[in-house]
Amino acid sequence: MEISNEIPDGINLPTHIGIIMDGNGRWATKNNKDRSYGHEQGAVVAEKVIEWTKEFNVKYLTLYTFSEENWKRPKEEIDFLFELFVGYFQVNFKKIIDNGVKIEFIGRIDKLPDEVFKSCIEIREMSSQNKDLTVILALNYSGRQEIVDAVNKILNQSKEQVSIEDINENLYLSNVPYPDLIIRTAGEKRLSNFLLWQSAYAELYFTDVLWPDFSREEYIKALLDYSKRERKFGAIPIQANINQVE
Ligand code: IPE
Ligand code: IPE
Ligand code: MG
Repeated sequence: MEISNEIPDGINLPTHIGIIMDGNGRWATKNNKDRSYGHEQGAVVAEKVIEWTKEFNVKYLTLYTFSEENWKRPKEEIDFLFELFVGYFQVNFKKIIDNGVKIEFIGRIDKLPDEVFKSCIEIREMSSQNKDLTVILALNYSGRQEIVDAVNKILNQSKEQVSIEDINENLYLSNVPYPDLIIRTAGEKRLSNFLLWQSAYAELYFTDVLWPDFSREEYIKALLDYSKRERKFGAIPIQANINQVE
């Protein structure tokens, strides 16, 4: 198959893409480096992916950056990841913001080290007027916890019954469309607690490519694959319907 470097005109693109950026550690091991080097390269790729997403005119991109379960990793790796975030926030995010990108966060960012939390708030404020693309960083995020937090917020409103709309409105971010496409790199075929509520009807795309090797071509491949999917949301597609309904 010919590998394309451009998005063909007129194809159906997602409004919201979620990415589980996995495989930094394996990429580093494969290249005889420390895991931290894999995370560094992963951050470089994340920055490029943000640029391409904007160029492709996709409106929302959620990047799974640190899960609540990632606290199970060795302290040195966690410390390195947070140092990397703060360094990135200070230098590269300013560039991203100047490029018209709005940055939002989902997850318990208030439980992160002070410096990380402050950087998140600063970036969110600095970018709040931007409109081209919204990048949502899932940081200290757990999909189950997000649903539990939403239910607890609703209980505090003294409601007796909880509806789907109530949960939608009390997620970490309301007013964001559900993800249409979730991409996971590095061969693992699971959600790992990412956007559990929101991904009920998301299209899933898995690639064996490790995150630091994820390229523009790979991204376009995922988007072309998505453009050919038929999304039914439980209904019967219009074409198939014609001869079946009496
Ligand atoms: C994803 O890469 C990055 C984070 C979870 C922060 P991993 O670090 O999980 O890489 P592998 O899965 O060990 O290869
Ligand atoms: C998911 O990757 C979390 C992020 C990409 C931030 P993990 O590497 O933590 O997921 P598991 O442990 O393989 O399920
Ligand atoms: Mg992993």
